[in-house]
Amino acid sequence: MSHHIVLLPGDGIGPEVVAATTRVLDAVGDFTYETHLIGGIAIDETGNPLPDETLAACRKADAVLLGAVGGPKWDTTDPGRPRPEQGLLGIRKGLGLFANLRPVKPLTALLDASPLKRDRIEGTDLLVVRELTGGMYFGRKERTADRASDENAYTRVEVERIARVAFRAARRKVTNVDKMNVLEVSRFWREVVLDVHAREFPGVVLDHMLVDNAAMQLVSGPSDFDVIVTDNMFGDILSDEAATITGSIGMLPSASLGEEGAPGLFEPVHGSAPDIAGTGVANPLATILSAALLLRHGLGRSDEAQALESAVDRALEGGLRTPDLGGSAHTDEATRAVLEQL
Ligand code: IPM
Ligand code: MG
Repeated sequence: MSHHIVLLPGDGIGPEVVAATTRVLDAVGDFTYETHLIGGIAIDETGNPLPDETLAACRKADAVLLGAVGGPKWDTTDPGRPRPEQGLLGIRKGLGLFANLRPVKPLTALLDASPLKRDRIEGTDLLVVRELTGGMYFGRKERTADRASDENAYTRVEVERIARVAFRAARRKVTNVDKMNVLEVSRFWREVVLDVHAREFPGVVLDHMLVDNAAMQLVSGPSDFDVIVTDNMFGDILSDEAATITGSIGMLPSASLGEEGAPGLFEPVHGSAPDIAGTGVANPLATILSAALLLRHGLGRSDEAQALESAVDRALEGGLRTPDLGGSAHTDEATRAVLEQL
């Protein structure tokens, strides 16, 4: 059976890593693709970072694969001008993608590529479950000449559903991360997490950590974590931090999921890397690994997902290193190395 995938290459290295990834996808299944605009390129071509056609096409797709959005060309502090990131936020909200899964598992072959000592990171296999459609990102924004604010609000339903995703994903425990010693929204968040735990998942070990402490524990003892559940803003920051454990942010995939049956969106955690865009050296592995998540969570094709992930592992074990990992392999070589393993 053929699956229909909407590709949103976006900006910077986005088009390069997405093109590499469709080559790999084609090696494991039968897919049809449709490419649409998002981000800066969509602003350039239509004036809108998320054209209506793009959102409509995504709603009809089986899954969406996104490259990256943004770049210095479109950076602005003027609230009246469109920004590429609005495209990404708009699509997350538009598709109801409230659950962002960011697995962090350094591969054995890359243990020495990490800025952290090997003995610190060995055994790390954690999952950041980030709430993706609420909190400060989507609160009411205000701006006058002398004051600006972003409301940080969560509803019970929003906290309950992300907590459920985390409890279902837990193998050893769930660590809830908040800032309840300061923020009202965090005290509410924690109460709701405790509630869901008591009523629906009493058998799962649950602990709590303040976000500043979690930031420290992530680098001092990352292997202690299993599932981390946290809000949109803290999740954004902690997942980048967690990415460095793997040696490069070029290695980290993500899945953004909504209600059962809605198409998921899959994207690398890294950005558009404008400094290397167009030079053919971008690391495509985070996008290829995002395609594995697409197969697993988006299409229910776990076998193919597994095949892809182990092909990436074996390619790295065979010595594949892109520049971000201290090597010199270009995007094309990296893609071929993975294809050979498949
Ligand atoms: C991410 C990115 C986005 C975010 C940006 C590009 C809007 O940093 O997916 O983590 O902040 O969510
Ligand atoms: Mg981020």
